[in-house]
Amino acid sequence: MSAVLHTDGLTVQFGGLKACNEISLDVNRGELLGLIGPNGAGKTTFINAITGFVPATGRVLFDDEEVLGWVPHRIAHRGLTRTWQSLELFGDISVRANLEVAATKLTPIKAVRDYFGSSQRVAARVDQTIDALEMHEVLNARPDDLSMGYRKLVGVARALVADSKLVLLDEPAAGLDRSETSWLAEKLRQVIDYGISVLLVDHDMGLVLNVCDRIHVIDFGKTIAIGTPEEIRTDEAVIGAYLGSSGGEEQ
Ligand SMILES: Nc1ncnc2c1ncn2[C@@H]1O[C@H](COP(=O)(O)OP(=O)(O)OP(=O)(O)O)[C@@H](O)[C@H]1O
Ligand SMILES: [Mg+2]
Repeated sequence: MSAVLHTDGLTVQFGGLKACNEISLDVNRGELLGLIGPNGAGKTTFINAITGFVPATGRVLFDDEEVLGWVPHRIAHRGLTRTWQSLELFGDISVRANLEVAATKLTPIKAVRDYFGSSQRVAARVDQTIDALEMHEVLNARPDDLSMGYRKLVGVARALVADSKLVLLDEPAAGLDRSETSWLAEKLRQVIDYGISVLLVDHDMGLVLNVCDRIHVIDFGKTIAIGTPEEIRTDEAVIGAYLGSSGGEEQ
């Protein structure tokens, strides 16, 4: 399996603090990789760095192309997309309309051209995503009227319709109860079945250990373990990092 994302020595410095310190991480194609670590370990900073939101050093190969130093929208256009904790949905238009907007990856000129030229292609992609995530029942609802679980799923669906190769999820289960979390976990596996790779950051250890193919663990900006859920569950460095902080014990 080749890597869709490969970082080598990725480092982000905030003054005297190395929030990410030489992180070398691979997400293989078709893989759901978990990125975990106690509070302040550098997980969000890592996502910000590879999506172009904070400056970094090292290498970031996405789909075999060096993207370090690119502006965020250029990276997103290549198919590396993230969801936001704040979700960034249009709350008062339908779920379908939210997906259509995401599917056109708008620039104003492209929006006009897409509207007249390829709106059928957009509709087909939206339909495909709705099928893949089995979202038919909420298609005409507005995100503002949906449960938190469904709103998170619309965020994931937006990344899917945008033709992503890799989706980065920063704490998608935050604010979800146990049954919504296991429902979301099932949906994340459907995303993988759809042929997209996922990097999942979450504090919910149950979710991460259950759903991920492999897990990459960082603490104080550095990699401390990489392995399967079974390996990570019993890894002494990981247990030590979580026992030594309140971060991973939250849920
Ligand atoms: N813009 C910034 N300027 C200065 N320091 C920052 C900045 N952003 C993050 N940090 C620091 O970098 C470190 C890593 O933060 P980050 O938010 O990446 O951690 P995290 O693993 O996502 O934590 P959490 O689990 O709490 O979300 C922390 O010490 C944080 O205080
Ligand atoms: Mg974070």
